Amino acid sequence: MELLKQKIKNDGLVLSNSVLKVDSFLNHQIDPALMKAIGDEFADRFRLDKVTKILTIESSGISPSLMAALALGINVVFARKRKSLTLVNDLYSAKVHSFTKNETNEISVSKKFINENDRILIIDDFLANGQAALGLLNIVEQAKAKTVGIGIVIEKSFQDGGKLLRNKGIRVESLAQIDALEDGEVKFKEVEVMA
Ligand code: G4P
Repeated sequence: MELLKQKIKNDGLVLSNSVLKVDSFLNHQIDPALMKAIGDEFADRFRLDKVTKILTIESSGISPSLMAALALGINVVFARKRKSLTLVNDLYSAKVHSFTKNETNEISVSKKFINENDRILIIDDFLANGQAALGLLNIVEQAKAKTVGIGIVIEKSFQDGGKLLRNKGIRVESLAQIDALEDGEVKFKEVEVMA
């Protein structure tokens, strides 16, 4: 997605060989026009898949998911990383380990919001090692719903997540695929790996 790549080039900050800072438009301050374009792009890619609900994880997955959900005319549900006061019973839960942050979270979704008739599109902001996506897939399985695919805003193709998920036969659509973060520069994948 050209608009997104331009934004990453112009406003992204390469912090190290593995971390890209995008807090000026994606995961701290949020650019709504870009987010709308991202939502529309996800909607276009999954429009024929009869998606009934988008599943994401708080917090940075929520804004692209919301815009995609709006474009598809469906609801979005986000997995919580902390137990809320009212979210105590009847939960689907999964453990998600972040290698980037070196922490493990238990994520939860109320059983009320996913059921066996659902066709779920999972969306997240980053795909690195794929652990968040695996946790969300696990929750969809527990609900006996179907995952139609995974939409990712930025895939770091030099980490294992994309391969791991595609090797399971899951359709992964990433709007920007990064091959390397080197010498302060973002190198995008020349030929994008599709589904
Ligand atoms: P994984 O789910 O693919 O295994 O990814 P990983 O554990 O490595 O990532 C965990 C968190 O770190 C996620 O945010 C993810 O968005 C973020 N992250 C991963 N790589 C990068 C990067 O290069 N740049 C930035 N800015 N973030 C990255 P989170 O903990 O879920 O936080 P949030 O959603 O509340 O923002």
